[in-house]
Amino acid sequence: MTHGRTLVQPTDLIVALDYARADAAMALVEKLGAQPVVYKVGFELFLAGGLDLVRELVHRKKRVFLDLKFHDIPNTVAKAAQQAARLHVEMFTIHLAGGSQMVRAVADALAEIDQIRPKILGVSVLTSFDDVRWAEVTQALTGHAVDVSASVLGLTEHAVFWGADGVVCSAVELPLIRESHPNLYTVVPGIRPVGSPVNDQARVMTPAQAREAGANAIVVGRPITEAADPRAAVESILKELSSTEPKREAILKTKN
Ligand code: C5P
Repeated sequence: MTHGRTLVQPTDLIVALDYARADAAMALVEKLGAQPVVYKVGFELFLAGGLDLVRELVHRKKRVFLDLKFHDIPNTVAKAAQQAARLHVEMFTIHLAGGSQMVRAVADALAEIDQIRPKILGVSVLTSFDDVRWAEVTQALTGHAVDVSASVLGLTEHAVFWGADGVVCSAVELPLIRESHPNLYTVVPGIRPVGSPVNDQARVMTPAQAREAGANAIVVGRPITEAADPRAAVESILKELSSTEPKREAILKTKN
């Protein structure tokens, strides 16, 4: 408490640089100027000159989220994680389905590097799965159909224990995860400011709703990249985030 007010952490705005060309991504970054956002680089952009772009962004003191969702044998992912750390990205994703050995190998590998410690974000079940499609996978793997939410919560439980710093989760899963993991860093995609087209996102929340529910960061792509004025779109989202108070439960659960 400071001067009788509860300290509430800000919710980061992560801008998804979903572009097929690095110059298009950089053009958006230039347009956004000094706006306090994190830039997310995924597969498409990474394979289209994104590595140099990441270096350039870091050189310009921008915050970078490398979203390559690593999933391989523990040694391979651990080495990839070290490379991500050496790029000075702030966070990167791994698939929690890689299991305890993979996640622990990543955490151990990062501990070997002095002074740089990006956040390890775990992806449990991709939000493109619904219960029917996820049952195809779980039935094939185990002989039993498992709900998406049960798998998400189960994997998140383990992720914390294995050494992940946070998870990527949907708006629907966020309240459930917050209940059992008050201090886990949560990154929530599928965010649509009021009035934005929903596109192909099945379950969306507004920036304010995500903040109220205790999201530490929200990921927004097309409502910014396809806006007539992306800078104005970012300013409006940042304003919405800063003028929203997390619900009391979320404050109590997210403050350190
Ligand atoms: O354009 P839109 O705001 O829907 O973009 C959302 C971004 O978040 C995309 O880069 C998408 O790949 C990513 N994402 C997602 N759902 C997840 C994980 C990542 O939409 N579960």
